[in-house]
Amino acid sequence: MQSLLSLLMKQTIRVAINGRLYEEDVEPRLLLSHFLRENIGLTGTHVGCVIGECGACSVLLDGKVVKSCLHLAVQADGREVTTVEGLAKNGELNPVQEAFVKNYAFQCGYCTPGMVITSYALLQRNPNPSEEEIRKALAGNLCMCTGYVQIVEAVKEAARGSK
Ligand code: FES
Ligand code: FES
Repeated sequence: MQSLLSLLMKQTIRVAINGRLYEEDVEPRLLLSHFLRENIGLTGTHVGCVIGECGACSVLLDGKVVKSCLHLAVQADGREVTTVEGLAKNGELNPVQEAFVKNYAFQCGYCTPGMVITSYALLQRNPNPSEEEIRKALAGNLCMCTGYVQIVEAVKEAARGSK
C-alpha cells in the first residue's frame, strides 16, 4: 500500500526547458511528452504512437535526442530539455526549420517537430553528413506523407548553410 501511494504522490521537479527554468509538481507516472504539452503548454512536441516507434515526440534531453513518450517527467529533474519551440531565436527560425519550409519537407506536419529536432541534433554533432548518415539519423522518425526525399534534401540544405 505504501509503495502504491508513493506512485501517486506528486514530486517537485525543476527542469530547464528552452533556457527557462520551471518548477512543477508532477505525478511520478507522468510522461515527459505529456508534461511538456499539458503542464508547460509546449504543444510543438507531438504525440503519436506513445511506444517509442514514430519519433514525433523527439526532444533534446541534455543535448541528446530522446523520445519523450519513453521518459517520465521526473527523469528530467535537474536537466535541460530543448523542444522544437526552443530552436528559433529572437523570432528567427533555425536554419533547419527554414530548410524544411523551403524544401516543402512536410505535408500534414505531424512528424515535423521530431524530424527537425533529430536533424538539428545530427548537424550539431556532424555538420557535414552524407545522405546515408542523414537517413540513418532519421531512421527513428517516421513520416506517413512525404516519402522522405524532401526531408533529406532539407537536411542537406541546412548542412550546406551551416558551413
Ligand atoms: S509518440 Fe513517442 S515515439 Fe511515437
Ligand atoms: S508530414 Fe505527415 S507524417 Fe510527416
